[in-house]
Amino acid sequence: MSTKNKNLDEISLSFIRRTEERKLRIGIVGMGYVGLPLAKAFITAGFRVVGFDIDASKVSQLQAGQTYIKHIPSEQIQEMNATGLFSATTNFSGLEVVDAILICVPTPLNEHRDPDLSYVEATTKVIVKHLQVGQLIALESTTYPGTSEEIMLPVLESSGLSAGRDFAIAYSPEREDPGNPDFGTATIPKIVGANTKAESAMACAMYRAIVSDVVEVSDLKTAEAVKLTENIFRAVNIALVNELKIVYSEMGIDVWEVIKAADTKPFGFMAFYPGPGLGGHCIPIDPFYLTWKAKEFGLNTRFIELAGEINSKMPEHVIMQMLMAMNDKLGLAMKNTKVLVIGMAYKKNVDDMRESPSLELVEILKKRGAEVSYYDPFIPVTPLIREYPTLAGMRSIDWTAEALKKFDVALIATDHCQVDYELLSRICR
Ligand SMILES: NC(=O)c1ccc[n+]([C@@H]2O[C@H](COP(=O)([O-])OP(=O)(O)OC[C@H]3O[C@@H](n4cnc5c(N)ncnc54)[C@H](O)[C@@H]3O)[C@@H](O)[C@H]2O)c1
Repeated sequence: MSTKNKNLDEISLSFIRRTEERKLRIGIVGMGYVGLPLAKAFITAGFRVVGFDIDASKVSQLQAGQTYIKHIPSEQIQEMNATGLFSATTNFSGLEVVDAILICVPTPLNEHRDPDLSYVEATTKVIVKHLQVGQLIALESTTYPGTSEEIMLPVLESSGLSAGRDFAIAYSPEREDPGNPDFGTATIPKIVGANTKAESAMACAMYRAIVSDVVEVSDLKTAEAVKLTENIFRAVNIALVNELKIVYSEMGIDVWEVIKAADTKPFGFMAFYPGPGLGGHCIPIDPFYLTWKAKEFGLNTRFIELAGEINSKMPEHVIMQMLMAMNDKLGLAMKNTKVLVIGMAYKKNVDDMRESPSLELVEILKKRGAEVSYYDPFIPVTPLIREYPTLAGMRSIDWTAEALKKFDVALIATDHCQVDYELLSRICR
C-alpha cells in the first residue's frame, strides 16, 4: 500500500471526521438483498442514505414503506423512512451529493456461464457522469480479482479525475447470509481492500461505523479474491459431502449420522451437508468467476469444475432415488404420477429461488411425464427465470389435507420450518 498523493490524504482526514460526526452521506446503488440491509445498517448508525435503483417498482415500494424481501419486514422500511434519513430514487443525479457510493448490483453468469459484468459496467458509466472530487466508490458485488482495477477504474478515470488522488476506490465484499438469525450486517466482520493507505482509511472508517470488525487487506484484488475464496470453499465442500452421500448410501451408511459424529471433533473438521444441488445467487455462480479469470493466466480451476459437475448432477440423482422408491414401495412409474415438490426456494426459510435446484427437479419431473405441483409458503407464484421459462406462473398449492390427498408422491426439496410436516405424515399413513 503506498501513499500516492497528499491531496487524498487531506480529503481522507475530512472524510473520516465527517464519518465520526455522522455527517457522511451514503449512496447505495442496487437496493436488493444486499443493498437494502446495508442501507438499514447505515441509517441505524445515524447516516443519511439515498438508495438508487433502476427498478421503479422497488423504489415506489420503499417510498410507500413496503417490503419486497421477506426477512426485512415492511415495519423496518417504515422505521427507516420515519428517521427522515432515508430516501429511495431512480434519479441518479443525486449521486453528485453523496460522499460515498456503495455498489450492490447483480453479478450473474451469462448464457455461456461466463461472468456478466454488465450491471457493474452500467453502474460505473452512470457514476462517472456524476463523480466528484473526494468521493469514495466501493464495490460490494461479488466478482473476480481485477474487476475494480481493470473494469471500473478506467471508466472512472475517463472523467479526468484520478483514483488515489482525487477520489477513492475500495472493494468490500458483502457477506450477508439471508435468513440467518445468528449473523446480520453489523456482526459479520467486513473485508476492506484499497490500493492506497488514504483510500483504505476512508473505507475502513466508513464501514467501522456499521460493523463490529473491519478486516483490512493489502489491495483491491486481494479483497476480491477473499470473497471468491469463501464461496469456492463452500462449493467444493458441499460437492464433497454430496459425493460421500452417494457412496455411503450404496454402502448402507447414513451420511447424516457420519457428519454429525465427525463434527464432534473439536478441530480440523467443519460440517457441510448434502442436498439436492446448489442454489442462490452466490455458491453456484461465484466460483466460475475465478475459473474464467484463471484462463487469462493459462490456468484451469480443476477443483471448482469438479465440484460444479458433482453439484449440478444432484437433482438428477435425487429424481433417480425417488423413482426407485416409487417403484419399490408404491409400484408406480413417473408418467402421470401426481408429484408435490415441497420448497421452491434455494434454502430454508427464504423467499429467494434464484438458481434453486427445485427448478431443475420440477423440470426433470415434468419431462418424465409427472404431473407436478409445488408448495412453498414463501413463493406463492414462480417468477420468470431465464433458464426455466416454462415454469413461470406456477402457483403454490394450499397446505390442506384435501389438497395433499390428491398427490401420489411428495418430494421435500427445501425443508422450510414453517411447513406442517405432521399433517403430511398423517396423510401418508
Ligand atoms: N444475496 C446474497 O445473499 C448475497 C450475499 C453476498 C454477496 N452477494 C452479491 O451482492 C451482489 C448483489 O446481490 P443481491 O442479491 O443484492 O442482488 P439483487 O438482485 O437482490 O439486487 C440487485 C439490485 O440492483 C438493481 N440494479 C440492477 N442494475 C442496476 C443499475 N444499473 N443501477 C442501479 N440498480 C441496479 C436491481 O434492480 C436490484 O434491485 C451480487 O454481486 C451478489 O453476488 C449477494
